[in-house]
Amino acid sequence: MYLSMQKNFRAFTVLAFIVTFTMFLFGFTLRDPSLYFFKYAIRKSDIFFSNGQCGCQQCMTELEDDPWFTERFNLSVHPLLSRRNSLLTNDTYRWWQRLQDHKDPANFSEVVEKLFQVIPDNDNLYKDAGPERCRTCAVVGNSGNLKGSRYGPLIDSSDVIIRMNMAPTSGFEEDVGSRTTHHVMYPESAVDLENTTILLLIPFKTLDLQWITSALTTGSIKETYIPVRSRIKANKNRVLIYNPAFFKYVYDTWLENHGRYPSTGFLSLLFAMHICDKVSVYGFGADRYGNWHHYWDNNYHGGEFRKTGVHDGDHENNVTLLLADKHKIDIFRGF
Ligand code: C5P
Repeated sequence: MYLSMQKNFRAFTVLAFIVTFTMFLFGFTLRDPSLYFFKYAIRKSDIFFSNGQCGCQQCMTELEDDPWFTERFNLSVHPLLSRRNSLLTNDTYRWWQRLQDHKDPANFSEVVEKLFQVIPDNDNLYKDAGPERCRTCAVVGNSGNLKGSRYGPLIDSSDVIIRMNMAPTSGFEEDVGSRTTHHVMYPESAVDLENTTILLLIPFKTLDLQWITSALTTGSIKETYIPVRSRIKANKNRVLIYNPAFFKYVYDTWLENHGRYPSTGFLSLLFAMHICDKVSVYGFGADRYGNWHHYWDNNYHGGEFRKTGVHDGDHENNVTLLLADKHKIDIFRGF
């Protein structure tokens, strides 16, 4: 009898100790961010997955990343242009100017200054990575493989939804979703946007920076190498510019100079990888019959992006598949 009472007492003491210790840790870690490991272990029960780099189960950067990825992934090149990072190296400037070989470009710094008098110059955007953030992003390419996919609700459930060029949503919601947080374009592929959507301009030449300034104000620029829209409907407080230095980093580091320059889709993918914790890719590649058309047209033999000859679609595809293999992105292949 005495022995059994003693055993019960010991069990009770151990239990009380465990409860007190757990409560102590829980209360303490909520106040002390240096103990996020415990906080996440308790709150998310993903003690074996989260390494504290971000709030998702798996983060873009992991403590034990493979060398192929870490050699390439460079967070010191910011994807967006600001006044502060607009002083391009000679090498970058020359490479960028040659992309579309526009004769007699205007003075780059003056153009940048005028641009940032029209759109905001925010040097701190997306620099909020940390253990509390789990930003999920959907990069939606324009492939016909989205047709019949019913990915709409899945795409719409992401925090950030990046679409590009002429991509419509109206009439295709079931397959491609209806929300767009970022729309990537260049002057020759420009479309009107909702007031809440961020316009992400990929400039291929100085004239493109002058074009966006003009398209949001006077409407004076009406052509580049082809006629372009002189005005576009977009919220000028929500315009971002793809950094030419980041453009070159994508080309040199990720594509190892394959093709003349990266496609809009590949540039959007790398942008997402640098601002998101989890990236899902939709609408890339051919459909199941090998066609490269857009999801909104029935021109099955279209697929201009394969035909222009400026992109190395196969190499881009291989790198994208490798990223998925290494669990850096998820690819939704469509149909
Ligand atoms: O045709 P467009 O350039 O507007 O498409 C945007 C992006 O979508 C491309 O750069 C490419 O990455 C992707 N795409 C694709 N397969 C297609 C059509 C587009 O991978 N059939």
